[in-house]
Amino acid sequence: MDRLGKTRRTNKCGTLRKENINEKATVMGWVQKKRNLGSLVFIDLRDISGLVQVVFDEELDKSAFDKASEVKSEYVITITGKVRERESKNDSMPTGDIEIYGEEIKILSQSETPPIYVKDNDDASETMRLKNRFLDLRKPFMQNNLIVRAKTAKVIRDFMNENEFLEIETPVLNKPTPEGARDYLVPSRVNKGSFYALPQSPQIFKQLLMVSGYDRYYQIVKCFRDEDLRANRQPEFTQLDIEMSFVDTEDIIAINERLITRIFKEIKNIDIVTPIRRMDYDEAMNRYGSDKPDLRFGYEFIDLTQIFTDSEFNAFKSNTTAGRSVKGILVSGKSESFSKKAISKLESFVKSYDAKGLAWIRLEGEELNSPIAKFLGDNERSKLINGLEMKDGDMLFIVADTTNVVNNALGALRKKIAADLNEIDENQYELVWITDFPLFEYDEEAKRHVAKHHPFTAPIDEDLDKLESNPDEVRAKAYDIVINGDEIGGGSIRITDRGLQQRMFKALGLTEDEAESKFGFLLNSFRYGVPPHGGIAYGLDRLIMTLTGSTNIRDVIAFPKTQSASCLLSGAPTTVDANQLKELGIKLDVQVE
Ligand code: AMO
Ligand code: AMP
Repeated sequence: MDRLGKTRRTNKCGTLRKENINEKATVMGWVQKKRNLGSLVFIDLRDISGLVQVVFDEELDKSAFDKASEVKSEYVITITGKVRERESKNDSMPTGDIEIYGEEIKILSQSETPPIYVKDNDDASETMRLKNRFLDLRKPFMQNNLIVRAKTAKVIRDFMNENEFLEIETPVLNKPTPEGARDYLVPSRVNKGSFYALPQSPQIFKQLLMVSGYDRYYQIVKCFRDEDLRANRQPEFTQLDIEMSFVDTEDIIAINERLITRIFKEIKNIDIVTPIRRMDYDEAMNRYGSDKPDLRFGYEFIDLTQIFTDSEFNAFKSNTTAGRSVKGILVSGKSESFSKKAISKLESFVKSYDAKGLAWIRLEGEELNSPIAKFLGDNERSKLINGLEMKDGDMLFIVADTTNVVNNALGALRKKIAADLNEIDENQYELVWITDFPLFEYDEEAKRHVAKHHPFTAPIDEDLDKLESNPDEVRAKAYDIVINGDEIGGGSIRITDRGLQQRMFKALGLTEDEAESKFGFLLNSFRYGVPPHGGIAYGLDRLIMTLTGSTNIRDVIAFPKTQSASCLLSGAPTTVDANQLKELGIKLDVQVE
């Protein structure tokens, strides 16, 4: 009791240890579980620090015992009692050496039967979990994820502040930003017919801050993108956004390696080896079919195109021309893992990536076993067996198609094989910088080049003269940090020369007027002295997924959105009042219920 006669909490549930034996403790929390065993009632009490066992004994205090018998799951209670050694210890609980011998109990709040269980591996659907997020967030693994998230943000802020970065906020009600996804729009009441766009990133503002001389900026900031949602994408997500002046790629990579090392050390006690490995974009695509390769396992692509230029197997031969490839993945000595049925599943799998088929060749003794064996000439056989040093029991999977399709299909197959064969070590972290990205990519729908990163990314100096003549071959001063096959962050050195920026806009098919109306406020600032600068942004949610081993981005966000961008807890988005629309000057063109 304190001076006011109120019961005060003395300890958090999960913190009590042997050292506390004989102390009197008052703990508060939620009832995880209650068991009545004759004259004893056992309660597991939970708070954010963990669980502790409390025992009420009929012999000690009948009225406390009776009250304890009444409680149910998720009741909030406070109990006071002496900490004592437990007779049957529980090694799986950090508090398993002790229990509280309950003297007093007070029910602070009752609970109805909860719609989902508060335990890590309940089998509630994600819909139920999201609808009842306040219960879901009570689960230890969710609490751990959010604790790791908060700790990581602190490590980041400590590091940034030690290194003279200033945290500066940028506006949320914005003009459209250059990241290229669809914008979330907010109608203006004061300026009817006009809209703000929520930021896809603070890109333009952070560059303006460099023009304004702030030298080193960072921000942990919400970004909004209306795009197709996948396992690691949310419509609103968080970036660690960074920009620096008077730097080149090497400076940015160096300080970010120190940051990443610090995060892994402090959060996971893992020593990341620096310098972090680097791979240019072309190499990543050629060897792994992806600009975010998972390097925890092998199965690198083997380019077989040259072997099949004169093949009798037309499906291969016809894919040996420019822009097309025949590539394979060799699985050593595991051919028994691939039954006919398994292979046919893998074939359907690659077909879902637009491949026309999946050819396979198994070496059995000296013999090739393969549905395409009859098409393979001696020369081809020897180039495969000897060239690839195939051994008895080896299995080669081959896809022939446009290089894009081959890369996509085999890239996915490589991951699937490693996962199916249980070869991915969840405790291993393989980091890689992917560099020298193409500056542009071709948008088939729009029939024009678009910026692969964003239009302020600088081209590599030696490629400058190809900007107009051969845009596809221009590389960018852009870099991504990839961890275990996920793009965790990306950035670039920026264009700071107005002439070059104009050439870039032109290459992107933007007229001067369009560029002016979209990005004029940045371009104008460049007239008045602009430092060389560059930066990077991390997907903080993705980083936390990596650090907590989560496969679902929603598990690291307290109140996330579903695949269809809605919040099942609050019901957002919702329709609004006719009056609100009227004030905004908006008439709906859709039927809503
Ligand atoms: P970029 O568009 O590559 O770069 O975004 C940076 C990082 O943000 C994460 N990310 C996402 N995370 C969750 N859900 C999403 N919808 C989502 N979209 C992106 C990714 C990505 O690597 N302004 C530039 C950065 C710069 O040039 O400095 C930018 O936003 O992890
Ligand atoms: P088919 O001659 O179409 O019956 O194909 C024989 C084998 O080659 C089957 O295992 C197909 O899956 C495979 N195959 C056909 N086309 C391709 C292709 N473009 N790339 C890889 N394998 C293929």
